[in-house]
Amino acid sequence: MNNFTFYNPTKVHFGVGMITKLAADLTAAGVHKCLLAAGGGSIKHNGVYADTIAMLETAGIARVEAWGIQANPTLEKVRELIALARTEAVDAILAVGGGSVIDSAKAVAAGFYLDDIWEVFSGKARIERALPIFAVLTISATGSEMNGNSVLTNTATQQKWGMGSELVYPRATVIDPAYQSTLPPKQTVNGALDAIAHILEFYFMDPEASVTMGIDDSLQKTIIAMTDRLLRDPLDTSARANLAWSATLALNGISGAGMKGGDWACHQIEHAFSALHPEISHGEGLGVIFPAWIEFMAERDPKIFDLWAKAVWNEDNTASALKAFRAKIKAWGSATSLRELGIKDNELPRLLDLIMIYPRIGGFSRLNREDVEALLMLAF
Ligand code: NZQ
Ligand code: ZN
Repeated sequence: MNNFTFYNPTKVHFGVGMITKLAADLTAAGVHKCLLAAGGGSIKHNGVYADTIAMLETAGIARVEAWGIQANPTLEKVRELIALARTEAVDAILAVGGGSVIDSAKAVAAGFYLDDIWEVFSGKARIERALPIFAVLTISATGSEMNGNSVLTNTATQQKWGMGSELVYPRATVIDPAYQSTLPPKQTVNGALDAIAHILEFYFMDPEASVTMGIDDSLQKTIIAMTDRLLRDPLDTSARANLAWSATLALNGISGAGMKGGDWACHQIEHAFSALHPEISHGEGLGVIFPAWIEFMAERDPKIFDLWAKAVWNEDNTASALKAFRAKIKAWGSATSLRELGIKDNELPRLLDLIMIYPRIGGFSRLNREDVEALLMLAF
C-alpha cells in the first residue's frame, strides 16, 4: 500500500431534517451575512430553499441571493458572483445545490481575494485565503460537498479545468437524502455514474491496497444496487441515503487512500466533452468513456481488471464484466457511445486538441495523442 496523506476537515450533517444543525456552524464561524448561491430553481420546488431560509433566520444571518448557476458552471458566472460578494460585503458563501453550485461557491470564496480566479484554474496562481464555505447538497454525484475541488468552464476558450485547495473544503455540509427525492431519474443516474467513475479512477492503481479496494468494491456495488432501486421507486429514502453517502465517500479521500492519486484520464477526457458541448452532463459522458478506457487498458494489463470483474460484477473476466457494465448503463437510459452523446465525427479533431492541452494524461498508464485518439474511436 502506498504512502498517503489523508485530510478532510468538512463536518457532515447527514440525514432527514439535519439542516437545522447548520445554524450553529454558521454562528460559530462568526458569519453575519452570506451569499446564498443556487442553480436554476429546483430548490424552490422541493422545500430546500424554504428550509434554508428558516435556518438562516433562526441563526439571525442575513443573506444576498445569487441564482442561475448552470450545470457545467462557467467562469463568467463566477466572476459575476465575486463582484456581488464584494459589493455586498458578505463574510461566507452558502452553496445550496449540486456540484455545479458548490464548485462555483468555492471559486467565488477564493476569487473574493484574487484579481483573477482563472489564474488558479490555469495553474498560474495559488489560493492563499478564501471565505468560509457551507453547503446544502441536493444531488449526490461529485463529492464536492466534502472535498476541496472545483471545476469551471471558461466559455471563451472552451477549457473546462479544475483546481484543488485545502482552503476551499466546505466547513460544514448538509446531506439530507429527502432533498433528492425530486431528482429526475436522468440526474440520479448521472450522479451514480459520476460516483462510480470517481472510484474507478483510483481502483486499478494498486492491487495491494486491499482495504481501499474492499471499500471501493462495496461503494460500487451499493451505488449500482441503490440506483436500480431508485429507478423503480424515486421515493425510496433508504436507497437515497445509501447512494448519497456512497457518492460522498467516492471522492472525499477515503476511496483513493494509498492509490497514488488515481488515474484521472477519463475525467480529463470527459471534461473536454462538456467543454465542447455544455449540454453533455458530466456523469453521462463518463458512462461513455470509462468502459472504453477499461477495454483499452485491459489489453495491456488484464490481471487487475479481472479482479474488478470478479469483485464488482461477479464475472470471471473483464470482457464479461464490461458487457454487464455497459448493459447497466444502457438500462439506466444513459448514452453508451460518443455518437449517442451528440458528438459528431467531424468534431473529433477539436476534441482531441482540447484533451491534449493537458501536459499529462493518465496515471495508471500515460496516454499520448495516438492513445487518446484510439480511445475516442473505441467510444465513438
Ligand atoms: O439548477 P437546478 O435547478 O438546481 O437543477 C439542477 C441541475 O439542472 C438539478 N438538480 C439538482 N438537485 C436537484 C435537481 N433537480 C431536482 N431536484 C433536486 N434535488 O440537477 C442538475 C445538475 O446539477 P449539477 O449541480 O450540475 O450536478 P452535479 O452535482 O452532477 O455537478 C456536476 C458538475 O460538477 C463537476 C462536473 O464537472 C460538473 O461541472 N465535478 C466536480 C467535482 C468536484 N468538485 O470534486 C468532481 C467531479 O468529477 C466533477 O468534475
Ligand atoms: Zn466526476
